[in-house]
Amino acid sequence: MSRHPKPRTLETERFILRPISPFAFSRQTFHWTADTEAMGDLFQRSKNWTRLRWWRYLRRFSRGNRHTHGIWPKGSDRPIGMHGIVVDGSRTASLNVLIGEQDWWGKSVVEEVRSAVLDDAFDHMRVERAVGLVRARNFPSVFNYRKLGFKHEGTMRQHFIHVDGKRADSLIFGLLKNEWLTRRAARAERKDEPS
Ligand SMILES: CC(C)(COP(=O)(O)OP(=O)(O)OC[C@H]1O[C@@H](n2cnc3c(N)ncnc32)[C@H](O)[C@@H]1OP(=O)(O)O)[C@@H](O)C(=O)NCCC(=O)NCCS
Repeated sequence: MSRHPKPRTLETERFILRPISPFAFSRQTFHWTADTEAMGDLFQRSKNWTRLRWWRYLRRFSRGNRHTHGIWPKGSDRPIGMHGIVVDGSRTASLNVLIGEQDWWGKSVVEEVRSAVLDDAFDHMRVERAVGLVRARNFPSVFNYRKLGFKHEGTMRQHFIHVDGKRADSLIFGLLKNEWLTRRAARAERKDEPS
């Protein structure tokens, strides 16, 4: 096996997740960078995006041990968001997500997409642990981690600079491979039960 497993195309009930091609993806999604609040929560850089900068960011997160999947609703050629995963030498995967098209917020996209990414990471990429770092007041994101069984493992005080310029705490969420597999098995069992 190569040192860095290659990202694969994944399919969920509603979406196709394809490893992005940074140049094409940057052209399709540059308008996302106008959402300073969302961009600030993901990159801690909210303003002064140029097409070149956006492309460089996407390129940085699409090579070596960094994979970014674009999220396409089935039957559409317009991406609505992206999910990133960085796998380090201790087989820990750091996750991040941006739903760039706001009309898709509140539709459980992250839960569905992240479940597929976690399945792939634990089953095929030799990942043993997944982590996410979020601004403490990013309630949707905190909620998304909890919903998938991540545990709050710590708080980094005043770690984050919010778009309003104020410092804020960051929360660390973690999930172990065996926790995910146990959860998945319980879910499958529930599905099999007669209703
Ligand atoms: C974070 C982000 C992906 C969330 O998108 P989303 O999953 O569609 O968000 P939702 O509105 O569905 O919220 C997720 C859950 O949090 C809950 N929630 C949202 N705001 C809440 C609040 N203020 N208090 C409590 N719960 C809240 C929602 O009810 C929802 O739960 P449900 O599915 O059971 O209804 C999106 O806001 C985004 O792209 N933000 C910018 C980038 C970012 O912050 N990325 C995460 C850090 S890496």
